[in-house]
Amino acid sequence: MKLGIESIHMHIPTYALDLRDLAAERGVEFAKYQRGIGQEVMAVPAPDEDVITMGANAALGALEGVDRDAIRTVVFATESGIDQSKAGAIYVHQLLGLHSNCRTVEMKQACCSSTSALHFALSTVALHPKQKVLIVAADVARYGLGTAGEPTQGAGAVAMVVSATPRIMQVEPDAGYYTEDVMDFWRPNYRDEALVDGKYSIKVYLHALEECWKNYQQETGASFEQFDHFCYHLPFSRMGLKAHLHLAREENASLSSRELQQQIEPSLGYNRLTGNTYTASLYLGVLSLLDDDSLELENNRIGFFSYGSGCMGAFFGGTVLPGYREALKTDSRRRLLAERQFLTMDEYEAFYQFALPKDGSEFVTPRHQTGAFRLSGMKDHQRSYEKVPVAAGNAGGSTCAYAAAPFMG
Ligand code: COA
Repeated sequence: MKLGIESIHMHIPTYALDLRDLAAERGVEFAKYQRGIGQEVMAVPAPDEDVITMGANAALGALEGVDRDAIRTVVFATESGIDQSKAGAIYVHQLLGLHSNCRTVEMKQACCSSTSALHFALSTVALHPKQKVLIVAADVARYGLGTAGEPTQGAGAVAMVVSATPRIMQVEPDAGYYTEDVMDFWRPNYRDEALVDGKYSIKVYLHALEECWKNYQQETGASFEQFDHFCYHLPFSRMGLKAHLHLAREENASLSSRELQQQIEPSLGYNRLTGNTYTASLYLGVLSLLDDDSLELENNRIGFFSYGSGCMGAFFGGTVLPGYREALKTDSRRRLLAERQFLTMDEYEAFYQFALPKDGSEFVTPRHQTGAFRLSGMKDHQRSYEKVPVAAGNAGGSTCAYAAAPFMG
């Protein structure tokens, strides 16, 4: 029985910051952002969007053409949850109008709970092949203004339908795992911004990659050469390159620059134009690879590395299925990227500073372009959401001059 991804889509905010403007304002050479960490544009969430609206928007696209009645489980993966108790999956389930005989749950382990959600979904579908699982991974990556992490911020969501009738990717159930109790990145409940030891987190990431790969090899006997492309968790796009070079060195694989380009570069494009999306980041990389129409990926084997600070990692594999392109929504994702509106530095900082009242008092959020769903406000400690009619003009502006052009730092 083949198990894997039947459908996948993403959502990113309509608003973005050109990192040239951030570099100029912070007195940093743009080359440091563009070449040093591999970032060009940062997605910035509007005051009336959060992980629920972004997740619901991504899921709306992922559910197109899917038998909704077969969805029996919705898993929401995030580290930017809106409630300590109630699962984000319930809000998304309601906004999408899914039937009520459904299991709904939220998962957490920094950036890699989306991968645990995927493996949970594979097990569920293996036991119940008629059922489908909707996974929603959504996050807002937020660091302090003026900190080293600031240019790696971003926001977005990826949603996937996992089933026994995959059209895009067969996902192998075996994985190599690694867990170690470290403090490289964390966000205590009383803080809106993460605390991070960035350089240490890169070291721990690379160590977790080594350990996951070793464990994956022990479990499966796989070798580096069996993979055509690799997708990594991308806190910033250059991390994918660092990780891949590290793994190649561990394996004593000498890669030509053409092989290096082919194995890693296609997965980096979307991240470079959105920034970190935590749980969604690995899967945004998968979409960047799948949407690259210069590549014919049918039957190509892909290696995936998922990393969540704190820390846990997972390495696993998958194979792109024949006919995958017909099941993609590449044009819609290109439009999302191309039709964004650039913010000025003042507008970016105003969006950044925006916060809902902390005392739960009544508040109506200002209206921005947020796709098909928006956070309309708060009353009695409860967030309220609304559907936005398509006619309200959510296509966004047309001021984003960037395309997902190849770049190797
Ligand atoms: N032109 C080109 N490259 C430049 C440059 C310039 N003018 N100035 C600096 N660089 C390069 C540096 O050489 C370095 O490259 P290297 O990693 O290959 O050595 C890179 O840009 C980053 O600069 P550096 O000064 O080392 O780091 P930083 O203090 O800006 O911090 C992070 C970078 C990623 C640690 C920081 O953005 C961060 O904390 N991010 C959040 C946490 C995170 O993403 N963790 C990752 C694992 S989950």
